[in-house]
Amino acid sequence: MQKLLNWVDERLPVVEAWNKHLAKYYAPKNFNIWYFFGSLAMLVLVNQLITGIWLTMSYNPTGEGAFASVEYIMRDVQWGWLLRYLHSTGASAFFIVVYLHMFRGLMYGSYQKPRELIWLFGMLIYLVLMAEAFMGYLLPWGQMSYWGAQVIVNLFGAIPVIGDDLSLWIRGDYLISGITLNRFFALHVVALPIVLLGLVVLHILALHEVGSNNPDGIEIKKNKDENGIPKDGIPFHPYYTVHDLVGVAVFFFIFFIVVFFFPEMGGLFIEKPNFEPANSLKTPEHIAPVWYFTPFYAMLRAVTVDLFGLPAKFWGVVVMGGAIAILFVLPWLDRSPVRSIRYKGWLSKIALAIFAVSFVILGYLGIVPATEGRTLVAQILTVLYFLYFILMPFYTRMEKTKPVPERVTG
Ligand code: HEM
Repeated sequence: MQKLLNWVDERLPVVEAWNKHLAKYYAPKNFNIWYFFGSLAMLVLVNQLITGIWLTMSYNPTGEGAFASVEYIMRDVQWGWLLRYLHSTGASAFFIVVYLHMFRGLMYGSYQKPRELIWLFGMLIYLVLMAEAFMGYLLPWGQMSYWGAQVIVNLFGAIPVIGDDLSLWIRGDYLISGITLNRFFALHVVALPIVLLGLVVLHILALHEVGSNNPDGIEIKKNKDENGIPKDGIPFHPYYTVHDLVGVAVFFFIFFIVVFFFPEMGGLFIEKPNFEPANSLKTPEHIAPVWYFTPFYAMLRAVTVDLFGLPAKFWGVVVMGGAIAILFVLPWLDRSPVRSIRYKGWLSKIALAIFAVSFVILGYLGIVPATEGRTLVAQILTVLYFLYFILMPFYTRMEKTKPVPERVTG
């Protein structure tokens, strides 16, 4: 074995890579449960890739055959139902895990210097993940697949001058059709997964260049022993590889309860109209995207006024796009001298809490049909969402922070 390893190592530095990224990658010893979600995101990604490949073996990407082929997978293909539910539940699990992963970043200021690139690659991952999920949802060719895609692609039509041509170009037809299904299939199974994988590699490389942050927001590299090893660091392998397995066990426990007993999650993970085949002549009574898009959908619907000669729909798209775009510049909005929420002042704590609660309630409002009262609440929460970012340069500088300890606190 050693000889074989040496042979390979002389041609490809596998031992060096193993040491750099695992055995001699020193991670802060005070990781808490919030640090499980990065490795869990990788686990879910692998689950999506594997189950996706096997689903593709029996799926028919045509307007005529798609819906029936999914029924065929569910009823006739051996273990087909399990493959499909692992993939559909995996999609929602992906967003749960990624949202918690991002929230950890917000709490511990992990986006701050020198980790801006990790955050930016993360945001690109998030964008591509949304595109991936959106295109995947068209594939079962159910009523909600069809009408959800219709609504979202039509949003591009709200862009002045080029809008109509742009949505036509995306669809490849005057309305969502088998042609759209074909191209979404190609993007969903080939193009976007490649981009996603590439971005995840860059995300991890950028992380390992500067090292992980931690719940105290202390730079462990500033405190090294005589061998140049951070005093508060422990080798990722075996400590965190084993530690992360505990996260995997707990995650699988919950994940499989959902897969086996609540795969539709009461219409949240697979919406009810999607058990009916797509019908371009019959609009469902209430169209809503899947839960992970609904905070942004609620913001879109919250804009109800025409402004400067442009329709409300256009401004809704601007607000929705802005809500995602503003996350990209987060590293340059936070002016706090400290990283972690543990040592920030009350203003930051309250701002983060209001932001998180607003996002969750917006998610709820995006699922249920709009009423006048709900629209008003959505408008207020949309403003709160943006204020978190817009006011950040001010409240992070104004507030009194707590002294940060020299060493991690455990
Ligand atoms: C496919 C999706 C993703 C995967 C597989 C992934 C993977 C990882 C892994 C394995 C880590 C190191 C372990 C950890 O700190 O939890 C990490 C760290 C990090 N990720 Fe992600 N990530 C993903 C998406 C995102 C997104 C969407 C963002 C934010 C926009 C993000 C921001 C960060 C940040 C800031 C860190 C450094 C955290 C720290 O050191 O405190 N990631 N990621």
